Amino acid sequence: MKALIAARPGGPEVLILATVDQPQPGAEDVRVRVRAAGLNRADLLQRRGFYPPPSGWDPRRIGLEYAGEVEAVGARCSLRRVGDRVMGLVAAGACAEFITVPERETLPIPPRLTDAEAAAIPEAFLTAFRALWEEGGLQPGEGVAVRIATSSVGMAAVQLAHAAGHPVVGTGRDADRLDALREFGLNHPLVEGSADLVVQARRALGGAAAVVLDLWGGGRLAENLALLGEEGRLVVVGLLGGGRDTVDLTGLLMRRQSIRTLTMRSQPIERRIALARRFEQQILPDLAAGRLRLPIAQVYPMTEAAEAHRRMEAGGHLGKLVLTWP
Ligand SMILES: NC(=O)c1ccc[n+]([C@@H]2O[C@H](COP(=O)([O-])OP(=O)(O)OC[C@H]3O[C@@H](n4cnc5c(N)ncnc54)[C@H](OP(=O)(O)O)[C@@H]3O)[C@@H](O)[C@H]2O)c1
Repeated sequence: MKALIAARPGGPEVLILATVDQPQPGAEDVRVRVRAAGLNRADLLQRRGFYPPPSGWDPRRIGLEYAGEVEAVGARCSLRRVGDRVMGLVAAGACAEFITVPERETLPIPPRLTDAEAAAIPEAFLTAFRALWEEGGLQPGEGVAVRIATSSVGMAAVQLAHAAGHPVVGTGRDADRLDALREFGLNHPLVEGSADLVVQARRALGGAAAVVLDLWGGGRLAENLALLGEEGRLVVVGLLGGGRDTVDLTGLLMRRQSIRTLTMRSQPIERRIALARRFEQQILPDLAAGRLRLPIAQVYPMTEAAEAHRRMEAGGHLGKLVLTWP
């Protein structure tokens, strides 16, 4: 079978489609014929030789999320059958014609979604779901601030929080792209760099945020903590703006705030499975009904993976870039 690999650390030109052995499913695994795979910034980092997958995964194999159909099942599988359409996350190697995954970690693809649309869902929505509720401990009615709402994870977070009835503000660097998020429930877009961003956010939320989901990272820590009220939770998910910052612990302590982080890629398998099962129960019905969705900026054939990586590096798109097998 073919698989997308980074032949060596480097730019998009190191990506090649290699011939590799087809994986064999274990007793509780299914083998999925991958039809589409979402592209993520972690793929770009991995291709350059940074952010390798956890041990046991081939660091040359690219791809974190997939959509396809079950093509073989292990001896002890009971949840999925051959022919079922499934989507989900892997730690690496989703850009292959076939992958094996524990059946309990797969999510059924709602019938209304194409394979490309389904491949755009897992990373953004599972990350946002975990950040808001599992790490952020979001409680009914609490206000949420999403720092870079124009990112895929941000768009998912805005929709999830809005759909659950929370007041939401979201930031971005580009006013036009932020404005386009009104149709996803972002009633209060805030342009990054505004001197009175915290005042605007508090006015829009009717007070301080209880949870800030942050994808910016370094350079925004003090502002993020100022967005939060007492006992507010900052959940750092991405470091688009860099990884370094300083914090005045006095304010953190006096206001009893906390900072959490998460990485989707390196979680024990039982936690990955538990997250997928909760997501299936709580969120999948809204995806199936079309109440939640992620726009696709562009679909590329797998043979043009390098071009897709260049597009992501160039930025300026809104929504997911997706790679498909013919
Ligand atoms: N911890 C985890 O497990 C986890 C899971 C998923 C994602 N992430 C991370 O979360 C971040 C967002 O991922 P995504 O897939 O949602 O990204 P995405 O869809 O590619 O969107 C990226 C967004 O970030 C903005 N951006 C790009 N470079 C920036 C910079 N230097 N400073 C500020 N904003 C910048 C872009 O806006 P412009 O168009 O203005 O450039 C765009 O709106 C990434 O860092 C990713 O690695 C982490």
